[in-house]
Amino acid sequence: MCGIIGISSNKSVSANIINSLKKLEYRGYDSAGVATLFDGEINEVKSEGRVDNLEQNFDLKSLKGNIGIGHVRWATHGIPNSINAHPHSSDNVSVVHNGIIENSTILKKHLINKGHTFKSQTDTEVIVHLITENLKTMELEEAITKTLKQLHGSFALGIIFKDIPDLIVGARRGSPLAVGYGPNENYLGSDSYALKSMTNKITYLDDGEFCIVKKDQVHFYNQEGKKINKKILELSSNESNYDKGDFKHFMAKEIEEQPLTVKTGIKEYLDNVNNEINIFNFPWKINEIKSVTLIGCGTAYHSCLMAKYWFEELTSLDVNIDIASEFRYRKNRFKKDSLYIFVSQSGETADTYAALDLCNKNNMKTCAVVNVIESSIARDSNFVLPIHCGPEIGVASTKAFLGQILVLYILALKIGSLSGQIDKKNYQVKIKDLKNLPSLIEKTLLIDNDIQAISSTFNEAKGSMFLGRGFSFPIALEGALKLKELSYVHAEGYPAGEMKHGPLALIEEGMPVVVLAPRDSYYKKTISNMQEVIARGAKVLLITNKSKDEIFSENIWETIEVENTNDDLLPFLLTIPLQKLAYYSALKMGYDIDKPRNLAKSVTVE
Ligand code: M6R
Repeated sequence: MCGIIGISSNKSVSANIINSLKKLEYRGYDSAGVATLFDGEINEVKSEGRVDNLEQNFDLKSLKGNIGIGHVRWATHGIPNSINAHPHSSDNVSVVHNGIIENSTILKKHLINKGHTFKSQTDTEVIVHLITENLKTMELEEAITKTLKQLHGSFALGIIFKDIPDLIVGARRGSPLAVGYGPNENYLGSDSYALKSMTNKITYLDDGEFCIVKKDQVHFYNQEGKKINKKILELSSNESNYDKGDFKHFMAKEIEEQPLTVKTGIKEYLDNVNNEINIFNFPWKINEIKSVTLIGCGTAYHSCLMAKYWFEELTSLDVNIDIASEFRYRKNRFKKDSLYIFVSQSGETADTYAALDLCNKNNMKTCAVVNVIESSIARDSNFVLPIHCGPEIGVASTKAFLGQILVLYILALKIGSLSGQIDKKNYQVKIKDLKNLPSLIEKTLLIDNDIQAISSTFNEAKGSMFLGRGFSFPIALEGALKLKELSYVHAEGYPAGEMKHGPLALIEEGMPVVVLAPRDSYYKKTISNMQEVIARGAKVLLITNKSKDEIFSENIWETIEVENTNDDLLPFLLTIPLQKLAYYSALKMGYDIDKPRNLAKSVTVE
């Protein structure tokens, strides 16, 4: 993870570096640091914790210099303290790094033998000393080319030099890096989001490339050190999306935005006149595809699991799902007639990208379901289905989850209809129901008070369980993940029918258990499982959908009813109370909701 920024300008850069670092904090917030060049010296400031700490600890206005680099860290090598914070510098070279140098131990030994001394526990410091060493005998371009070849692992780098004071070097392998173009200044950044307040003109570096950024020109090089030309992309800019508005937290805003997320997604993929799903430029014929494999991490993996249920219900395709970090190292049997779908909000998750890369290298059909359409996963897939959510800033994924499952549902529905698995009439009914979904989400969002009142029970308990069957099982997993990552309490998602095969032993008097039992085809079975946990003392929060029919069960602690819709779409509504439960539990504990401990928004290391 980690976020990096570099600015080469004709004016002082520290204020803009700090602003950009604040935007990049979603990538890591263990420590922050800045280095600028002024009067023939490298000036470095760094602090443990957030960028706010850095601002409090140093008078950043007095940090002069027209050229500088900055970093926010998500610790990999070495504890999060100010010594391990980036930039790391020698007398001549200062480096910010996102990624992991896998051969750092060997390189460090070699450099120590040559007389270099190390201050930190990081892998990054070897880059500083390698460049310093190579520059003793080589010109800049040659020294960079050689250094990059000596490094194993992944990196995005920003580098400044005391003796070459008019430029920043950027380099990329694995971890993303963009160059931005401004008036009398140019930039380096981990992503376009960090640069958006300064420019909408961007070039993305590809793997193995490096660049030299001066205030008035940028040169790009391939891994052999040969100059290359690259395109400048113009991005649409909508700064207001990056604002919390009247909300206390981005997460709260993003939860409330979900009716709009779903509305926008529907608008992008539905032809209202013909009541038809439009997926333009799909590069393959439907009969060329016999199976789909969906791959993602975390919440995105839960979207894949959700899609498995829909694809199996609505199409005749074989469906496999995989966690990207597992898929990338397994002995996969690649199938020519399979469509590999990569689900990722950021489009930069290292494991998901590696899984995509593996599929591309094996000439598979690849499709990305992403939020960030300029991301690496989007750029390197054969076909992209954007989820159109707008920026998601809260580390806990909320609206992107609904956006992902919406697009996957639409895809399953379209394939089901094209291959004749869903008849015309049923297809039309499902499209009509889909159009009503945003207003049902809006109504379901009104459950605030009910959820607030019960949320503290989950904080006070030793742990909790989230149970569901069928379409509700992926939502149970997602609900447990949200509670874990925000409230730091143990929560486990489980298929309700599996409880008696082991986890029932965990149930004791007063343990909170969320049971997702919408009135779908699994309802009666789930209610039986609910009774089994109640009988063993669990405090059950039942989440179901509205109905005239009474619930025949005693001793339910609390019941929350979401709106009513067809079985396929109930997962969208069941997700809402679970997001709110996690939000209010964390709020009561006073935790940092948008930046939970130990996590980062974009996981660009494996
Ligand atoms: O950007 P991605 O969708 O690829 O991220 C995948 C996971 O890291 C992410 O969903 C993570 O699990 C969230 N923090 C969950 O809320």
